[in-house]
Amino acid sequence: MDAIRWNADHTLSLLDQTRLPVREEWITYTEYRPVIDAIRTMVVRGAPAIGVTAAYAMVLAARQFTGTPDFGPRMDRAAAELAASRPTAVNLFWALDRMRAAAARCGGDPGALEREAVAIHREDVEMNRAMGAFGAAVVPPGARILTHCNAGALATGGYGTALGVIRAAHEQGKVSMVYADETRPLLQGARLTAYELASDGIPVTLICDDMAGALMARGQVDLVVVGCDRMAANGDFANKIGTYSLAVLARHHGIPFYTALPSSTIDLSLPDGSGIPVEQRAPEEVSAFAGTPTGPAGVSVWNPAFDVTPHQLLTGIITERGVLYPPFGQSLTERFSKV
Ligand code: MRU
Repeated sequence: MDAIRWNADHTLSLLDQTRLPVREEWITYTEYRPVIDAIRTMVVRGAPAIGVTAAYAMVLAARQFTGTPDFGPRMDRAAAELAASRPTAVNLFWALDRMRAAAARCGGDPGALEREAVAIHREDVEMNRAMGAFGAAVVPPGARILTHCNAGALATGGYGTALGVIRAAHEQGKVSMVYADETRPLLQGARLTAYELASDGIPVTLICDDMAGALMARGQVDLVVVGCDRMAANGDFANKIGTYSLAVLARHHGIPFYTALPSSTIDLSLPDGSGIPVEQRAPEEVSAFAGTPTGPAGVSVWNPAFDVTPHQLLTGIITERGVLYPPFGQSLTERFSKV
């Protein structure tokens, strides 16, 4: 399964994730500006997928502007516009920095930028596969695993981070059930994770977010693994809203709690999670469901797209360079200070 395709005619196709699981529709982009809307409206979503998409958008911009006298400033503007699309996942800024550095090296040659974007995409899949191999080792035989949101092939260049770990463990015959939180308000768990796992023949049971505690109390969860949108230098991390609640529940029930992330999601410039910008989204995502109001007209809504889980609640961090254990400040610096 994949969600991002770079085509031979130098166009970008995205699987429209707002339509899943009802329809599998691809949208093709020839210019960078509509790609910004695609990120904002979550046609494409998930931290690594946003980074890969932004890299390809920079290639589209380079092809639009190549040969113009103000090529450099136009590319800078395109990068700034892309950077303003969503604030939390650091992969977006990481990918844009990498594309800017490539542009500086190659004088803005669109072919060289295209090779860089393709490399970002390919490396993301490679990192996910490495994470899967390391992460599968912490999964016990017969595991019943709980996950939140979608950190799968759809959220990345392919294979997935948290779902990459689950895929690898499933290939080793270790997974007896995956519980997918539905993930209100936008239902990435129900619409995307359940769809992705079921399509791959991995056993999945869908639950509402508020059922996770009861499931744990019944002894039906052996492990929690989630993705990550940005990790600070001490291991505090932002992920989909509801992750923090799960981490607290897991700690209360003595259940191991892992996050899986590639190095492109680590932001060592932030000492702790308090500096991670948390995106606030439209009130209608909470006060209505599929266009039908579910709250009184004009009701006040709080709708943060992410929360920050303190590192003390983490059992381990699964990365492409191995599984890290506390003290996370030290293990992150040792493995990733030269990212
Ligand atoms: O708002 P979204 O759907 O972009 O949020 C996605 C998540 O929170 C994922 O868990 C995270 O990006 C990790 S994806 C590999």
